[in-house]
Amino acid sequence: MRIAMIGAGYVGLVSGACFADFGHSVCCVDKEPAKIEALRQGRIPIFEPGLADLVATNVREGRLSFTTDLAEAVEAAEAVFIAVGTPSRRGDGHADLSYVYQAAREIAAAMKGYTVVVTKSTVPVGTGDEVERIIREVRPDADFAVVSNPEFLREGAAIADFKRPDRIVIGTEDERALAVMNEIYRPLYLNQAPILDMCRRAAELTKYAANAFLATKITFINEIADLCEHVGADVQDVARGIGLDNRIGSKFLHAGPGYGGSCFPKDTLALIKTAQDFEAPTRIVEAVAAINDQRKRAMGRKVIAACGGSVRGKTIAVLGLTFKPNTDDMREAPSLDIIRTLQDAGARIRAYDPEGMEAAKGMLQDVSYARDAYDCAEGAHAVAIVTEWNMFRALDLDRLKRVMAEPVIADLRNIYRPEDVRRRGFTYKSVGRV
Ligand code: UDX
Repeated sequence: MRIAMIGAGYVGLVSGACFADFGHSVCCVDKEPAKIEALRQGRIPIFEPGLADLVATNVREGRLSFTTDLAEAVEAAEAVFIAVGTPSRRGDGHADLSYVYQAAREIAAAMKGYTVVVTKSTVPVGTGDEVERIIREVRPDADFAVVSNPEFLREGAAIADFKRPDRIVIGTEDERALAVMNEIYRPLYLNQAPILDMCRRAAELTKYAANAFLATKITFINEIADLCEHVGADVQDVARGIGLDNRIGSKFLHAGPGYGGSCFPKDTLALIKTAQDFEAPTRIVEAVAAINDQRKRAMGRKVIAACGGSVRGKTIAVLGLTFKPNTDDMREAPSLDIIRTLQDAGARIRAYDPEGMEAAKGMLQDVSYARDAYDCAEGAHAVAIVTEWNMFRALDLDRLKRVMAEPVIADLRNIYRPEDVRRRGFTYKSVGRV
């Protein structure tokens, strides 16, 4: 299959490289010449394990190319994927679809022969109808179908998620388009991934419902964690106790500082707005978004409590800044609110993150950055573990204690066993465990 991928951002790049690896011929298009030039030279603008190798192999073997010329890529393609950004619109929380609609206009002007236009970007219900209308308006004669094919990959595990998905969702009622999509995903039949075909609106909603449900699961266990602290129970026991019930499932039950990232906060908000517009409010999701928002600052207050109630004039070492490990993504990271809360309370912040410090520099003020975890903890009155990078899981606690001004650890990801840390003379606070 010949595929054009519009948008060489996170989803576009991962999807493009994986489709090429399936054996398709893929051309990734982006408006930014610098990005395309860098990709041509083998430089990947994002941190994602395995992606650089996958891109290099497929470029070398002639299946993957990059261009700024959308028309050229679209003309040659049987399927055109729209994988441009859909940020939250300033002010009202709705997804901003201007990039999607602009792409639709440009695709319409360029396409030749029967073309399947696929939205991979996360788009609100009804966007496919509008994309279809736009294409029809620009090219009344065009032979095409618009399909929704949402992406469920996680940052840090994107390639594995793409190649071994739990399911593939294809939203179309056009038989020809379904045949094209089945051909594109044929290599995954080998993995027996279920391919679900449904109407376009159901596919669009599936993506939002999945993310909102996962966000709800996390928020649920976070509230149970808070309750555990009051009643003297261990949230990890409770999570395991409920998670082994197959109806609940054990994943996404790790209590922590609240969810962040480029998807959950934005997608829950967009779902809430859509539901309100249709006068069918999703009140559970509304509560989830509000609770998660408050939680991030509450975690800052938790660090303050671990320090005996005041951090004025103290130095707090923050380990981990990104919204989760194995990414350099700082979007909606809980660390941002936690650090601001600590700064508002008069703390000095020293931080270390293996991948996130560059991005953090543009988002936080008055933070000093360290070379590694021990350098970060030097002279600190507390260490706050905010992101569970593997390198923080096996710290030499005796060494850490020697360099710190006060032996206090606030482990917001529950990566240590309380007794192990306390035995070494630390004051130790975690989430949902006493
Ligand atoms: C998510 C979805 O998993 C993915 O299917 C969708 O396509 C995009 O959004 P991602 O944002 O990359 O992926 O990260 P994910 O691993 O899902 O984690 C999201 C946030 O939830 C992180 O901040 C993480 O720390 C938090 N989280 C996750 C928890 O606090 N507890 C958990 O048990 C799981």
